[in-house]
Amino acid sequence: MIGFNEKDGVLHADNVPLTQLAEEFGTPLYVYSAGVIRAQYKALSDAMANALPKDRQPLLCYACKANSNLAVLSVLQKSGSGLEIVSEGELRRGLKAGFNPETIVSTGVGKQASEIKACLEAGIHQFNVESLPELFHIQRIAEGLDINARVVFRLNPDVTGGGHHKISTGRSRDKFGIGHDRVFEGFEIAKDMSHVEAVGLSMHIGSQVFTVETFKEAFEKLPALVKELRGAGHTIERLDIGGGFPIVYDDEKLLDLSAYAQWVNDIVVPLDTEIIMEPGRYMVGNAGVLLSEVLYIKETHERNFLIIDAAMNDLIRPTLYDAYHGIEAVENRDLEKVSYDVVGPVCETGDTFSTGRSLPLMNEGDLAVIKSTGAYGFCMASNYNTRPMPAEVLVDGDQYSLIKPRQSYEDLIDNDIVPDFL
Ligand code: LLP
Repeated sequence: MIGFNEKDGVLHADNVPLTQLAEEFGTPLYVYSAGVIRAQYKALSDAMANALPKDRQPLLCYACKANSNLAVLSVLQKSGSGLEIVSEGELRRGLKAGFNPETIVSTGVGKQASEIKACLEAGIHQFNVESLPELFHIQRIAEGLDINARVVFRLNPDVTGGGHHKISTGRSRDKFGIGHDRVFEGFEIAKDMSHVEAVGLSMHIGSQVFTVETFKEAFEKLPALVKELRGAGHTIERLDIGGGFPIVYDDEKLLDLSAYAQWVNDIVVPLDTEIIMEPGRYMVGNAGVLLSEVLYIKETHERNFLIIDAAMNDLIRPTLYDAYHGIEAVENRDLEKVSYDVVGPVCETGDTFSTGRSLPLMNEGDLAVIKSTGAYGFCMASNYNTRPMPAEVLVDGDQYSLIKPRQSYEDLIDNDIVPDFL
């Protein structure tokens, strides 16, 4: 069995009881299922294999900002994935996890000189360029190193996609991508550059995109644009159509992957380019839970607070995006239901995972999981309130291993420096 299921009354990660993991590694603890990650990768690549010709399969570049633990990267690398990176740190992680640089694409509006240099030296597949100043920057650095940079221009299609305005990236008001006219200008400028080769276009419209229609709307101008650019003598041999594949947090109706794949086949395949995709959340989101222990049950006149040992520093999505995450008891799951506000120990009201959530009657010391936290969970955690970063564990069937120890108080505090002049 893979994933998070009840067995003998206890919630398990694959075949391992979560009670055992809490006992061994403590809480709060991120727990991931390798099997779920593999299954997600396979579901997306199978959908493409079924709809697209054999010789036109996309390069799936996992957007590792979602979860960049080396063990998670390793599962995806071994599944055949490429990588989308947004920093030198992610490049270093990717190379260490064994990704072939030829399958790595670099995105982001603020690529630093050191990052561009590191990407060029590693020999990555391409830079997805987000502005004309960045293009000049890449040329200058590439010339200095005498390494050719292959770039695609990220088009801003001016559409609204993505579940929350903070994660929508395709509107013209957003900082991402380059407008239609500027893309032409970019190709013209690149033509005269000695160390830049412009080879295509990219687009990423946002996260949690639920309908093929949203993708269609964003990409509908693509065939005409590709034709126009080719007509002007430019090379369009790569199209990177981004990420945004949604997962279930509550009761959302998911994107129909086969309809999406069919749309890619109908609209993108005829353009006769290499196809790249950048799925992040889809690969790992439902593959992880945040395991936490109940510290106190605090009853007031108005509410029942379930105070758990995980807090907004461990998982910021609920307070940052008003994001919904399912919460489940690990044991005694059949007890009568009680309405709880599930909160953490951090000293602000925003440290709330849910209000009025119906859960089986809980007691101090009981365990609960916050679900669908494999993506944008640990990687957005912080040390707020001088709380150590949580530990992470990967489960694979009957096996499990710590993949990141809980941060020690020494690591947390001892790097501060009190100057001599004080
Ligand atoms: N490609 C690019 C250029 C991106 O910026 C992103 C995500 C992805 C791919 C992957 O998108 P996905 O498939 O995961 O939707 N912290 C937020 C999500 C921020 C997404 C940023 N960019 C959250 O917790 O919902």
